[in-house]
Formats: sequence, C-alpha cells, structure tokens
Amino acid sequence: MSREPSPQDRAKRAAAEEALTFIESGMKLGLGTGSTAAVFVKLLGERVKKEGLKVIGVPTSIRTGELAEACGIKLTTLNHAGWLDVTVDGADEFDEELRLIKGGGGALLQEKIVACASDQMVVVADQSKQVRELGAFPLPVEVVPFGWQVTQALIAETLDDFDVGGDKIGLRLFKDEPYLTDEGNFILDLHLRRIGEPEELATALNLIPGVIETGLFINIADVVVIGREDGTADIIEYVEDEDDE
Ligand code: 5RP
Repeated sequence: MSREPSPQDRAKRAAAEEALTFIESGMKLGLGTGSTAAVFVKLLGERVKKEGLKVIGVPTSIRTGELAEACGIKLTTLNHAGWLDVTVDGADEFDEELRLIKGGGGALLQEKIVACASDQMVVVADQSKQVRELGAFPLPVEVVPFGWQVTQALIAETLDDFDVGGDKIGLRLFKDEPYLTDEGNFILDLHLRRIGEPEELATALNLIPGVIETGLFINIADVVVIGREDGTADIIEYVEDEDDE
C-alpha cells in the first residue's frame, strides 16, 4: 500500500524534478546516493523509458547501481566513462558557499570521486539541509579498518587545534557491527556541532594516514537545487566574490 507523500517527500521530488532540467540527451551522468538522489534516479528512469532520453550513468554506490538498473538506466564504470557531464547527488548540509557535508548514507568516497570527475555537480536537497554554519550534522570520515582506533586518536588530537564545537567521535555501526562502506572501510562520525574552518579541517584530516576521505565537499558543488514543501524549487549558484580570488 503506498502512503501519502510527506511534506519532505514533496520537497525532495520538487528538487529532483528541477534537477532534470540540467540533463540533456547524450550526457554521461554521475548518479548520487541517498533518498533525494534516489527520487532523481527514478524520475530520470521515467524520462528514459517514456521519452527515449539517451544517457549513461555512473552510480556512486552499489544500491544506486541496483536502483538505476531497475529503472532502465544504462550504466558504466567511471573508468570507462572517463569524464562526466553532470553529477546529481544529495547532501546532509550545505552552506552559503555551497560547501557540503555528505556521507550520511555512507557513500562519500565514491560520491566525491564521481563529483570531482564531472563538469558540474548539482546538489538536490530539501530546505532542512541549508545551514548558516556546517557541523550540526556529524561529519563522516571514511577510515581504513586496520588500526582504526589509532586513527581515531589521531583525529581527536587534530580536532584540538581547530575551531569546532564538539569532539565526540563514534564508529558507525550496522546491526551492532562496524558499518562497512562499499570499499570495505569503516566510518567515524565526528560530532563537531560547528565547524569554524571547513577547508583547513578537511586538509588536516586528509593528512592522517588511516583517513581515506572526509565528507567535507569544498569547492565541488556548482549548484544546489532546494526543493520546497509546496512543490516549488529554487536554484542557488555560488558566485565567488572577485575579492576572494
Ligand atoms: C550519502 C549521502 C547523501 O547524499 C546524503 O546523506 C543525503 O541523503 P538524503 O537525500 O537521503 O537526505 O551523502 O552518502
């Protein structure tokens, strides 16, 4: 039995529908992970089936690949595609400079690789993801299982030097076992509450040997499509201040 769409469902759909306006026949697309990206994949599949839209997708997780296949979207690997036109993906938070926290769904590594191999990254999100300052959402950091507790200790030490609002770190679990990413790694969730210097923190965390990647996406997103509960959507593009260059 299908349930009535919630206001948040309507907002996600509005964002996904608007994101379709960035897609043209012949494009190579990165397909994101998460509930909002999944709505986009389903709508894209409808256009492929009904209108014969010709696109080829590179999924950012096993589950997105399975969904896209079920929706009739042709898939390839990133190696085979080489470079992509547009990636459409969700976010856990975004700020006014379109800096993101991603990885709530555990797919941050492939998501970052795919987004960085694209001419354009379009983020689909509902209004709840828009924040003044990043960090209320716990920052996911993908780490190698080998020696992960030492890596966690090094992360904790690194946090001491940063302007953040909290320092609790939790190993992400699934059914009481460490959650495993598609690459077989662990995720540490950093409960920072507030991240004063996202760029600097991302750089410092990436220097720790056991850290594979962080969920901070800086200078990667080009556009955020915000879906609203009334079914409308707004497009936000970040235009860099000339003085900042
Ligand atoms: C997965 C992600 C997702 O894009 C993010 O968690 C947002 O998901 P949702 O659209 O379900 O809120 O980064 O790793």
